[in-house]
Amino acid sequence: MKGKFIVLEGIDGSGTTTQKKLLCKWLEERNKDVISTHEPTREKGRIGRIIRDRLVQDEHDYSPEAIGLSFAADRLVHIEDRISPALESGSFVVSDRYYHSSMVYQPEHGASIEWVKEINRYAREPDVTVIVDVPAEEAVKRQVDRDGGESSIIFENLEFQKKIRKRYKELEEMLEENLYIIDGDRSIEEVHDDIKKVVEMEVF
Ligand code: ADP
Ligand code: TYD
Repeated sequence: MKGKFIVLEGIDGSGTTTQKKLLCKWLEERNKDVISTHEPTREKGRIGRIIRDRLVQDEHDYSPEAIGLSFAADRLVHIEDRISPALESGSFVVSDRYYHSSMVYQPEHGASIEWVKEINRYAREPDVTVIVDVPAEEAVKRQVDRDGGESSIIFENLEFQKKIRKRYKELEEMLEENLYIIDGDRSIEEVHDDIKKVVEMEVF
């Protein structure tokens, strides 16, 4: 028996962490084996951890290509040692972010989108991807409520998130895969209900 691979995507603050938890809980209540995961990976020694601790924090400004290759490498290792074995054993895998993040964030920093697609060619296609679409103003507000922040940084972030949101919307046209954009600017429960509907329709 093969499992199902579900990806949640969205701008920072859109609510994917919240929705992933709810979705995993719901799947577990339906007696599914569920692996909840995230990219960039976070565990000690993983490439994603190095990206987070070193490349992003470093004073040196790495090129979007160097960062993009690092995310892609993190992803392939993640697939080979975690995602694929879980799917082969029949588990559901729910990932917060996947190659769609690379296709929106790295081009916004200047990388060629075709090239980003190419370096992610060997990353298996999810069974279904849900993009949680939230206006940048709302997402930034949620981030500030969660983390706090300074107004200049908030403004910079707002402009950036608007561009990222637009790129997410363009993915629907660009990728021939099972991808849904849902309205995330509603209550946590309403968004959860929509995600459940998509999952029920697409993977059960
Ligand atoms: P992300 O993982 O996409 O950055 P989170 O799930 O951490 O987003 O959500 C950001 C903040 O917004 C959290 O404090 C969370 O509780 C809150 N939040 C999440 N979804 C909603 C929603 N639909 N309405 C209002 N607040 C939300
Ligand atoms: P995020 O999900 O916010 O991780 P955390 O909550 O642990 O900090 O991801 C960190 C950032 O990395 C986020 O702004 C999106 C970005 N990112 C990319 O630029 N490319 C990618 O391929 C991925 C997976 C993430």
